[in-house]
Amino acid sequence: MDSSEVNKLLGGFLGTCFVVFSIGIVSDGLFASPAPEKPGFAIEAQEPTEGGPAAPAAEAKPIADLLATANAEAGAAIFKKCQACHSGEKGGPNKVGPDLWDIVDRPVAEHEGFAYSAGMKDFSKGGQEKWTYDNLNHFITSPKKFVKGTAMGFAGLPKDEDRANVIAYLRTLSDNPKPLPQPGASAEAKPAEAAKPAGAAPAKPAEGAAPAKPAAPAQ
Ligand code: HEC
Repeated sequence: MDSSEVNKLLGGFLGTCFVVFSIGIVSDGLFASPAPEKPGFAIEAQEPTEGGPAAPAAEAKPIADLLATANAEAGAAIFKKCQACHSGEKGGPNKVGPDLWDIVDRPVAEHEGFAYSAGMKDFSKGGQEKWTYDNLNHFITSPKKFVKGTAMGFAGLPKDEDRANVIAYLRTLSDNPKPLPQPGASAEAKPAEAAKPAGAAPAKPAEGAAPAKPAAPAQ
């Protein structure tokens, strides 16, 4: 084997390496990019499906569902218990507790002229927290459990129906009663949303594959 033969062999070998590497780099460029898009969706989809069905079973019934069948007139009778300490009229006086006019969505511990307990002020987070339907529901279930250190000396209404009725009545104590929450919305929306990314997933790899075809004849 003289040196020119060795050169040819080496040249052939290096040339082959060059072509193989080039094809590798070009095909990586063509096929690699679509992959990272998907995993983000896949992970998101799993969490709600696992948490979704479990959450409503473990917790109490959502207030939105309870309010859907609540009766404000029955709530007016229950509100008599609250009236030992609360007035409910517009501009009504503070008694042992603050006036409850327009309480739904009212900022916590912000009623004029009432000296709230330290516990209630803490809970208000400086006026950011509001008496949402949810907060009212938890508070009226068991005031001292929900707002540590509250001065509201009331044992609570453990029955779902009583609470829903009295909250439906509290809602009417307003010039513009707040809209009722959508029953079932919080529980069912999540699995439905989770299904969408899963269904959309097969569409994108198909788009990603398309550019490979026009590129193939070029080789
Ligand atoms: C024994 C008296 C008493 C009774 C009965 C009572 N409350 Fe109260 N309530 C209070 C006091 C006192 C406060 C202020 C609590 C604090 O500062 O910690 C309060 C606060 C509240 C607040 C918060 C108001 C705000 O401005 O942040 C709501 C809502 C409320 N009560 C609803 C009710 C409802 C509904 C009932 C009846 C189911 C009821 N209360 C029965 C004494 C009472």
